[in-house]
Amino acid sequence: MNQKKPWSGRFLKSTHHLMEQFSASVGFDYRLYRHDIAASIAHARMLSRQGIITQMDFDSIEKGLLEIQAEIENNTFEWREALEDVHMNIEAALISKIGEAGKKLHSGRSRNDQVATDMRLFLRQELDEICLQLTELQHALISLAEQEAETILPGYTHMQAAQPVTLGHHILAWNEMLQRDFERFQQCRQRINICPLGSAALAGTSYPIDREMTARELGFEGVSLNSLDAVSDRDFIIEFTAHAAVAMIHLSRVSEELVLWSSDAFGFVDLGDQFCTGSSIMPQKKNPDVAELTRGKSGRVCGDLMSLLMLMKGQPLAYNRDNQEDKEPLFDTVDTLQMCLGIFSAMFPGVKFNRDRMNAVAEKGYSTATDLADYLVRKNIPFRDAHEIVGKVVGYAVEQSVALPDIALSQLQNYCSVIEQDVYDVLDLRGSVNARDHVGGTAPKRVKQAAAGARKLLNARNSSSG
Ligand code: ARG
Repeated sequence: MNQKKPWSGRFLKSTHHLMEQFSASVGFDYRLYRHDIAASIAHARMLSRQGIITQMDFDSIEKGLLEIQAEIENNTFEWREALEDVHMNIEAALISKIGEAGKKLHSGRSRNDQVATDMRLFLRQELDEICLQLTELQHALISLAEQEAETILPGYTHMQAAQPVTLGHHILAWNEMLQRDFERFQQCRQRINICPLGSAALAGTSYPIDREMTARELGFEGVSLNSLDAVSDRDFIIEFTAHAAVAMIHLSRVSEELVLWSSDAFGFVDLGDQFCTGSSIMPQKKNPDVAELTRGKSGRVCGDLMSLLMLMKGQPLAYNRDNQEDKEPLFDTVDTLQMCLGIFSAMFPGVKFNRDRMNAVAEKGYSTATDLADYLVRKNIPFRDAHEIVGKVVGYAVEQSVALPDIALSQLQNYCSVIEQDVYDVLDLRGSVNARDHVGGTAPKRVKQAAAGARKLLNARNSSSG
């Protein structure tokens, strides 16, 4: 407390202790330190290249900053709340370490373009990590899909057994969701990877800076084109969080299925002891906590998105202090999504599907009723009549508690005389899935092709994206 502030020149009274607490962000923005230091080194190198500071100044700035980075990483750096944020903590430490040269680092920049730069560097790195995690999870799903290409389970609409599908097809549906997530993140990365440095506080700077050089040093693909926008724009954070929210909703939907499937009533899946917990009172229980927690955590990420949208809603140009509030929701979103993707990747390879049970439930659910209707249509019965006839057959099966393939031919012929022995090919689950033999269909043959195609997309990533 009562630490001299870098901006205190025009102030007569020192900051109230409540104000220090209120305005401090170092408790959470400290995690930008590596990006802050990298950006400062790039900025200082540019200043020296442009003759704004000397080479000697740059050398000692760089050395000082790297020492500070090491101190932070071995936990000997003292963060001070009175110095507000990560930026001023590091700058103050630099000045006390190297003196005069340290005071020159902030020439031609402001914390406004500094924090915007740090946030972009941070998010670019975390996004790349998320994309790697997505790829890993997709690999796991595709392997499972191949393994379960022939497995049959009931497909549901309205949570009612609808038509038989293959489990591989179902798993590849999850993969499609994640594939879109990956593509969205990659598109968003292009808009993240723009350098705001040089925008300074809001209007740019009168120093002869070289913005392209700083951008290049930091791996940015270009420089921002309007200083007012650059210091105030948080679209890239909103956009990322929106995509993260969609990704979390996908994980939540998968989770919901895993919760249902692992219940006694379904009995489709065993998620593995390592990823379940027991009950302190009911010894028989094995709870699908990964799925439940993920489903729950999807809510907080949607909340983060809402916080960020509301944060920006009323802001005039250019930078406003409100923007400091962008960090906690973003960090929370990054941490949550990374954690969920990580545990899904760890859990999925060990998941055991109960193929017999899935098959039995598909048989019981009359899920080949549509195939019977289609069969009748092929025998020249109009579809609406066929639908009516099959409805009656299903009614009979329910009454007699039999599966459709177990109804005798003579009995079936009571409902419609065109039915012949070949009807059993379509009443059979395997016949039903094999018949869905087109791109995007559930036939095992198509599932294997789709899995190979999906894997090809993953393998192309290594060369094309970060
Ligand atoms: N900690 C601030 C933030 O996160 C840094 C920028 C502060 N700029 C200022 N002029 N007060 O946005």
